[in-house]
Amino acid sequence: MVDHRKYPIPRVRHHVSPQLYAPASAQHVLPSWYPPVVTDAPWHEWFGNAKPATVLDLGCGRGGFLLGHALAFPEENVLGLEVRQTLVTWINGVVDGEALPNARALWYSLVNGLDWIAPASIHTAFYLFPDPWPKKRHYKRRAFNADFVQMIARILVPGGRLYLATDRPEVDDYQTSVIEATGGLTLSPLYEGSTWPFEHRTDQQRFCDRKDIPYAWRFAQR
Ligand SMILES: C[S@@+](CC[C@H](N)C(=O)[O-])C[C@H]1O[C@@H](n2cnc3c(N)ncnc32)[C@H](O)[C@@H]1O
Repeated sequence: MVDHRKYPIPRVRHHVSPQLYAPASAQHVLPSWYPPVVTDAPWHEWFGNAKPATVLDLGCGRGGFLLGHALAFPEENVLGLEVRQTLVTWINGVVDGEALPNARALWYSLVNGLDWIAPASIHTAFYLFPDPWPKKRHYKRRAFNADFVQMIARILVPGGRLYLATDRPEVDDYQTSVIEATGGLTLSPLYEGSTWPFEHRTDQQRFCDRKDIPYAWRFAQR
């Protein structure tokens, strides 16, 4: 749906500073390239109807899913959170260029929490193909931990869902064990293959489909 001749995709570095994956509170001096910490969300600036987000795309990357989902569900306000500023600027360029009132990307590191989102306000959150950080000593860089699960359980409406997808079985094992140990969310079975329940797929999902890389998804419901 995005015309890439009109919106050429920017070059992005895959490896960014580990500092971006540490909370602002753990750092002595915040560098200028650290995403601002949000305390109060200016929803009226972000969405045409001035209302808060109802759908989150956590780690939205290039925003293919965020943009498609916002177009498919005009009644939802879809907010993408992404630590790489270049991608956020590009996504918001498309949002503004196409005058999409219900989509927005925010330059933000998830490790700083979502206290600025009201309890029981999010219908659906997506955490799709997160950075795997495969080495044990790098696990602490994963945004997904007990605090993250508690935070999601707090902001989801009763019955609301957190969708998870990954092509790394060890990432699913890790996330499943964190959810089970934390409580507050009930896990669905693991679905493998292409039975993705949404019309749109993420950029990473499309990549996996093109290259025949198997992936699996599940949801955790409040
Ligand atoms: C492998 S990409 C997947 C992007 C997209 N969800 C998809 O499926 O195409 C993972 C994304 O999560 C972002 N990310 C990783 N840690 C993050 C954090 N702490 N806060 C915000 N975004 C983060 C990365 O910058 C990257 O764009």
